[in-house]
Amino acid sequence: MVEIKSKREIELMKEACRVTALVHKVIERMIKPGMTTLELDKLAEKVIRENGGIPAEKGYPSYEKGVPNFPGSICVSINDEVIHGVPSEKVIIKDGDIVSVDLVVQKGGFHGDAARTYLVGNVPNDAKRLVEITKQAFFEGLQFAKPGNRIGDVSHAIGEFVQKNGYSVVQEFQGHGIGRNMHEEPGIPNYGKAGKGIKLEPGMTLAIEPMVIQGSPDILELDDGWTIITEDGTLSAHYENTILITEKEPEILTII
Ligand code: MF3
Ligand code: CO
Repeated sequence: MVEIKSKREIELMKEACRVTALVHKVIERMIKPGMTTLELDKLAEKVIRENGGIPAEKGYPSYEKGVPNFPGSICVSINDEVIHGVPSEKVIIKDGDIVSVDLVVQKGGFHGDAARTYLVGNVPNDAKRLVEITKQAFFEGLQFAKPGNRIGDVSHAIGEFVQKNGYSVVQEFQGHGIGRNMHEEPGIPNYGKAGKGIKLEPGMTLAIEPMVIQGSPDILELDDGWTIITEDGTLSAHYENTILITEKEPEILTII
């Protein structure tokens, strides 16, 4: 069952999403070569808590045996890392890196989820293009996020756009409904058939999140049980917002 949020629930969603967007603004301003990914994590956690939020990724359960719950407040995935990079004092951000930061804020019992891939210093043009196409893919999907359309219309638009531009979408991970829980129904794949899946209705809150790879779509998981990397070593980018379906145009809740 896909939940339709009430007016009051939507107000609470908006506040959690506002804090999520604010944290990204601070990260965008502060991210620099020489910083460790743990420093970025601590900065994000501070801003989240100062604004009455809780970093919802911290302690997120692993369902794999022997793998600890997620230790970071945010996910930081550099270059060929796709998602779920674990913040570490040993990982130093370098000039020319593309750094994906995916973060979820819980506030007032509701969640805001957004990801950006940041360009650090002098980034090669091919990497810049990947990041730009990944962002555009989100907006291609968003155009279909309206009542009367189906989830498959959103998925199809994202997948086609990425493929047309010569890149691959990750198939093993997807966008999702969001609300009291970080992950709710429906799942929102980044590829699929137009006209398939559930119908969109006003009051649905969704996290749409293209994960794009320069080369082949295949991925691997590192021994830490979290970090997902590209199998072929090419770069990957991520762009995500939490949105609200309305009678008319969708509202992006995690951009301020
Ligand atoms: N923020 C991710 C998403 O977009 C989920 C992260 S799970 C965690 O759905 F364990 F890494 F926190
Ligand atoms: Co998400």
